[in-house]
Amino acid sequence: MKTVPATIVDLPALLATLEERGWATLSAVRPEAGGIIGELSRLGDILGVRTAGRGSALEEVIQPQRQSEAHSRSLSALFGLSALPFHAELSHRPRPCRYLLLGCIDTGSPSAVTVLLDWRTLGFSSEEFELLEGAPILVRCGRSSFYTTVLPSDRSFFRYDPGCLEAVDARGRAALRLVEDRLTGGAPHSHEWRPGGILIIDNWRVLHGRGPSDHGSGRRLARILIDA
Ligand SMILES: [Fe+2]
Repeated sequence: MKTVPATIVDLPALLATLEERGWATLSAVRPEAGGIIGELSRLGDILGVRTAGRGSALEEVIQPQRQSEAHSRSLSALFGLSALPFHAELSHRPRPCRYLLLGCIDTGSPSAVTVLLDWRTLGFSSEEFELLEGAPILVRCGRSSFYTTVLPSDRSFFRYDPGCLEAVDARGRAALRLVEDRLTGGAPHSHEWRPGGILIIDNWRVLHGRGPSDHGSGRRLARILIDA
């Protein structure tokens, strides 16, 4: 896709691209950390309201972490520098955030791709939708843990994160196995990063993951999460 500078973004065109395929790419005019974070913030403020991630910061710079360095309930604590599996950001919240904005400060060496997969392409049958909408799933999040389903009845978002979702019965196990199987057989898009590149993901529609990385690769992405 053609990339345009984030500062001259045409909002209707951006929303149309997000509607069409669930993610959009832009490029920061100032590709250093401060410039990228500033442009992500401006874009985020256009799309909705910023919300904090696990680290409780509204703006974060994320980098590949070893298992021992990561937040105890994060995917990095489970997978470390290996590939991070597909997930929806903030699946441990009652409603995951709507948009995930990432900006590349440093690709790292070796670089690691971000993989994207639209859950609507996973070919669920009506019986499978019933399972995903009905099977109880436990979201493990300390004192805020709660029971829910992978899909809400309006199918507006898809809750999935192997780091915090847990089956509590046979139907739940079947639902999570179904998702895992379909994700394995899906046809993801691999996003290659370049410095100053910005990726906006509709987190209700497109799951994301990361390719394997190396400790000390230098990969750094700015991240902003948006409720809308
Ligand atoms: Fe993520």
